Amino acid sequence: MCGIVGSVGLHNPHDYILDGLKLLNYRGYDSAGLAYFEHGIKIYKDKGSVEHLETLVPHNFSSLVAIGHTRWATHGVANKTNSHPHLSYHQKITIVHNGVIENYQEIKNFLLKEKYDFYSETDTEVIANLLDYFYTKNNDMLMSIKESISLINGSYAICLFNDDHPDVLYVMKRSSPLLIGHGDGFNLVSSDASAMIKYTNKFIDLNDKEYGIVTKDNIQIFNEKGEAVNKEYISRDIADIAIDLKGYPHYMVKEIEEIPDVCAKLLSTYYKDGDYHFDKELIDALSKANHIIFIACGTSYHASLVGGRLFESFANISTSEYIASEWANHPRITGEWPFVIMLSQSGETADLISCLKIIEEKKIPSLVITNTEGSTLDRKCQYSLLLHAGKEVSVASTKAYVAQVSLLALIVGAVSKQKYIYEDLLKATSYINNVQNNIEKIRNIASNIKKSESLYFLGRGYDYLLSLEASLKLKEVSYIHSEAFPGGEIKHGPIALIDKNTPVIVFITDEENAVHMRNNIQEVVARGAKVYVISTKSLAKKDDDIVLDDFPYYLTSVVSSTFAFYLAYYTSLLKGYNVDRPRNLAKSVTVE
Ligand code: G6P
Repeated sequence: MCGIVGSVGLHNPHDYILDGLKLLNYRGYDSAGLAYFEHGIKIYKDKGSVEHLETLVPHNFSSLVAIGHTRWATHGVANKTNSHPHLSYHQKITIVHNGVIENYQEIKNFLLKEKYDFYSETDTEVIANLLDYFYTKNNDMLMSIKESISLINGSYAICLFNDDHPDVLYVMKRSSPLLIGHGDGFNLVSSDASAMIKYTNKFIDLNDKEYGIVTKDNIQIFNEKGEAVNKEYISRDIADIAIDLKGYPHYMVKEIEEIPDVCAKLLSTYYKDGDYHFDKELIDALSKANHIIFIACGTSYHASLVGGRLFESFANISTSEYIASEWANHPRITGEWPFVIMLSQSGETADLISCLKIIEEKKIPSLVITNTEGSTLDRKCQYSLLLHAGKEVSVASTKAYVAQVSLLALIVGAVSKQKYIYEDLLKATSYINNVQNNIEKIRNIASNIKKSESLYFLGRGYDYLLSLEASLKLKEVSYIHSEAFPGGEIKHGPIALIDKNTPVIVFITDEENAVHMRNNIQEVVARGAKVYVISTKSLAKKDDDIVLDDFPYYLTSVVSSTFAFYLAYYTSLLKGYNVDRPRNLAKSVTVE
């Protein structure tokens, strides 16, 4: 989704702004722009890539302030006019914004009556003009920001400068991340630490409704009442936020191949000296719970389905799993002692943040499992466990999914006091490389399915839960319509669509379900489907396409997922798509 960079005091901010925007590319965007002050306000923006923007912008600009933005369209189509930065009606305030202003229409109606004209369809221009309206009256930018904050509903991370003070940046934040990076004789602003890490590892993290003024030597932050707030500097683990392809052609394949190392790091972090290594208070709270509510979106939701089943099977605690946007609408809380587990790679997903508000109101204990230290959910949930998977740049999540499932298995091991779960996990992760020995076969399957319009993934039990993720991954990056079903369910409807043009990919890694799954294969073969089977040695039949070494059946999402990720990756490549940045998708979805 949208990304923000800003600088004050850098000699020639060109490189920071453009390189910073490129580093934010991974979040997904459709247009880009920047603004600075050199004998007046200069704005360059257009639909398209940061590389395209770079061709429009002078190589050098000596401006004390500069701001930049990548936009993922929410209000108004992706075009030049709707791109950020936006300039206020009286050409005073230049602004970039992430988030969604919920009451923008109401504010716009008011400003229209005050004779403000609007050029774009965006909610951002409304904020620029609201600030302009107050500034025209009081000639005080901080006061104008404070007044605006009291009127705006919704989410925003905003960075702006005022034509009257082109040596100062102003920032304001609510529900969308915004960090200030402190340097020697300069200060930076960004929605993401990774854009600033080359320049500084000293950050100030803004809380909701805080705003501030940033000069080259000074940072002052205020709360919504206008009181000055003392902020501590924080730093980030550089390894966790570095963005480097390390010689790989794409982030997706780099991240798939990092999975064994990610698992090793996770195991050594959460299992030490022969025992699980978690905050005792957290494990006690989970053990006391009689119902666990999982809330997540996308890939993280699929990991939560696995987590739920692990808790029920091994810790004897009942669970429910919900998609965050649905739960926020109808918050179902079951059990006398409920406990909420939220899963979020980014820790910034807006749908989850709105659930957290409900959870806090209802005083339900909560844990977030996230890959992003310092993210909103990491900071706000009662308990937080980090995945330590390293920055995930590819929009399609891979290593974070495996890390989520593995960490959930470790937590279940700690709650149920069963050490063999750790041992099984250790064994399972050592078999992930086994999938890599089958790369050629996976590529062949990709080549066979690449022209399909539609396909199915089938599995039973944990293999079904994995199928859901395999299907999502394939559709995200190859744009092939794909669905996942439990093997037993196809006869209740989906089989009506199966014919010789429908490839069916089947996982058989669980002995208890193997016979039934083989019967399901016969059902689809009888309708002409081309079937590809992924099985394990002890369950394999002669013609199976990929046969993996045996591993504990309940960890198929840890092992067989790598097959699914490679399949999606190669299918996308063979179709000539941008695998790291699939159309219309964003890495971190900061709007509801
Ligand atoms: C977006 C991404 C998905 C991701 C989902 C949840 O839709 O494209 O890959 O699974 O958000 O993100 P989260 O950061 O909360 O795990």
